[in-house]
Amino acid sequence: MLKITLKPKLFSFYLVPVLFTFFVTGLQAQTIIAIETRSNALVLKSEANKDLGTIYFGKKLTDKTEYEQVPGTYKQTEDYTRVLNAAYTASGSRNLVEPAISVTHADGNNSLDLKYLSHQRTQVNENIALWSIVLQDPVYDFQVTLYYKVFYKEDVIEQWASIKHNEKGNVILHKYASANLHIKGSGYFLNQYHGDWAKEMQPEESKLTHGIKTLDSKLGTRANLFQPPVFMVSIDKPATENEGQVLFGLLEYSGNFRTDLEVDYQDNLRIISGINNYASPYTLKPNEAFVTPVFLTTLSAEGKGAASRNLHNWARKYKLLDGEGNRLTLLNNWEATYFDFNEQKLADLLKDTKKLGVDLFLLDDGWFANKYPRNGDVAGLGDWEENKEKLPNGISSLVKEAKNNQVKFGIWIEPEMVNPKSQLYEQHPDWIIKQPKRAEHYFRNQLVLDLTNPKVQDFVYGVVDGLFTKNPELAYIKWDCNAVIYNAHSATLKNQSHFYIEYVRGLYKVLERIRAKYPKVPMMLCSGGGGRVDYAALQYFTEFWPSDNTDPLERIFMQWEYSYFYPAIASSNHVTDWGKQPIKFRTDVAMMGKLGFDIVVSHLNEKDLQYCKDAIKNYDALKSIIWQGDQYRLANPRETGIASMLYLNEGKSEGVIFNYLANNRYGAGSSAPILLKGLDPVKKYRIREINLYPETKSTIPADQVYSGDFLMKVGFNPELNLTRTSVILKIEELK
Ligand code: GLA
Repeated sequence: MLKITLKPKLFSFYLVPVLFTFFVTGLQAQTIIAIETRSNALVLKSEANKDLGTIYFGKKLTDKTEYEQVPGTYKQTEDYTRVLNAAYTASGSRNLVEPAISVTHADGNNSLDLKYLSHQRTQVNENIALWSIVLQDPVYDFQVTLYYKVFYKEDVIEQWASIKHNEKGNVILHKYASANLHIKGSGYFLNQYHGDWAKEMQPEESKLTHGIKTLDSKLGTRANLFQPPVFMVSIDKPATENEGQVLFGLLEYSGNFRTDLEVDYQDNLRIISGINNYASPYTLKPNEAFVTPVFLTTLSAEGKGAASRNLHNWARKYKLLDGEGNRLTLLNNWEATYFDFNEQKLADLLKDTKKLGVDLFLLDDGWFANKYPRNGDVAGLGDWEENKEKLPNGISSLVKEAKNNQVKFGIWIEPEMVNPKSQLYEQHPDWIIKQPKRAEHYFRNQLVLDLTNPKVQDFVYGVVDGLFTKNPELAYIKWDCNAVIYNAHSATLKNQSHFYIEYVRGLYKVLERIRAKYPKVPMMLCSGGGGRVDYAALQYFTEFWPSDNTDPLERIFMQWEYSYFYPAIASSNHVTDWGKQPIKFRTDVAMMGKLGFDIVVSHLNEKDLQYCKDAIKNYDALKSIIWQGDQYRLANPRETGIASMLYLNEGKSEGVIFNYLANNRYGAGSSAPILLKGLDPVKKYRIREINLYPETKSTIPADQVYSGDFLMKVGFNPELNLTRTSVILKIEELK
């Protein structure tokens, strides 16, 4: 390993002996870096000239020394640049394709070349290793350190870059990706997502053609409204649930992101992902580090199911706040009352919370603002004092009332936003994101506060801290974020091209402060639905709101797609009045994640109420399997019109299978058995139907015994048909 601290001007002197070493001792001057997980290897090689490139990304080899032979097995057309496979592609020198980094040096020069300098591997704990690789420009005093954090057991790698220089003035970063992958295959199939309000996570699969496909966001806040920062790429052929090589990728970032997928002229796939550099050239001072957000990958040779289970295990253990902890079931008043409530109505809902048997009552939007009362979405945002007309005795009396009913109390806030009709808007015009010379443009009648401003950060922190300080027993926060950023401009930020980046930094600073003081209070990450679901934010939140669309039929599809990337414990699913399905269907679908209700309990007839109460009891008994178990997608509603999903505990002794008919055509139903997965073939299992609607009987015999072998080779029929559209099965090992 080459270990020299470079002074740029001296570098050429060092370079000579290095090249000399290569000619004299052959391979010695080359370095192979094999970053291995349980199943895979990402192998980088520093060539004799110190270019660092990817030479392999795939299944791990038994003998590490053989990685070196991989490049020789390819007879592709010539790489005129010799950096097509660069581990971090620099622009302005030999590169001819999409760069990972692009800069203007202090002297105005636009070229960058990055040479391998050194690397290090630190074993963080039994499962985690951190690699860092230092790259250095041979002419300029400019360095990039690439980080690879390996979660061995979960086959997950997190990557990011730290960019630094010691030039005589500032350097402008025009592009600053987190990761730059290089993959070889006979074809690449991208599974991407698009959406809108109430239409989150709509999948699309296509074969990548030569050129660049970009997935990105330029929305600033609610950044995922049109597109989330997650995707899959199948290599060679489209992967299925249980077969094929597939890479899941995602950027852990809550702002503008950009992922370029480029099939180059050699037919290799280059994936470059990071913060979107759109409108964001970044001025980097000497000796300051620009650290990119994290880009995550997990590679599976056994299809999408295995990749998702690895990701769930990783998320619960290492990323999602309190991922292995408890969650609260709840009753929310949003769709029950909208903005129209008062103390009495809420007191009744608190009684309903208790009656239903859930843990917490969540008071939604509409509880605040006096000069411009929050009686609709046109006014009041920003004025976070209780509305005296609706709540003359304040939040504290509601918290007390909740306690009297032996339930907990939670509250909705949207602290980053402001309505023009608010006192906040009148008092602090300079706290608001807008262009001074242009007309204001609203999204849901509101504007975004300027979180690049430390005073605004204090204000937003103060909204949360104030609520907890005044109401120490407040047990839950739903944090909403409904608007995108138009007219991006800060009244106080010196360099406007830092705006989008500083906004996200400001947001994380606030969340850091909140979590330093309130480490575990559950908080739901909501953004007009799923407009801000990402793993950087989920470090501070216990759960997310996938969509305002709670029609259970839609949710079957939406939750299915979310479930590839996020574990069920993080998905807040509420039973509402959306859709035409009966209460059983609605409740069953909501039970597939973190269960909640948003209905008028007093409108339920006796049997519906009884059903809900029983279902909540079942849920309480099963929730540890739903939250912590392994998820197996058994039947895909997009392919078969039937959805079937199994959650299985670690010991393979207990599980729950959710089955739905997602098609109501004549004769629709489960005519054939559905193959189970993940069971122990030698174990004996009993399957029985639960969550039966009062006075109905299951058509499934309760005493039949099956081997795991049978269930995985022949399968089980949940007997779905037009009269049985939702069937929940409990599977248990017979001991
Ligand atoms: C957003 C959320 C909803 C609800 C409303 C309140 O749309 O997604 O769940 O909280 O705001 O205004």
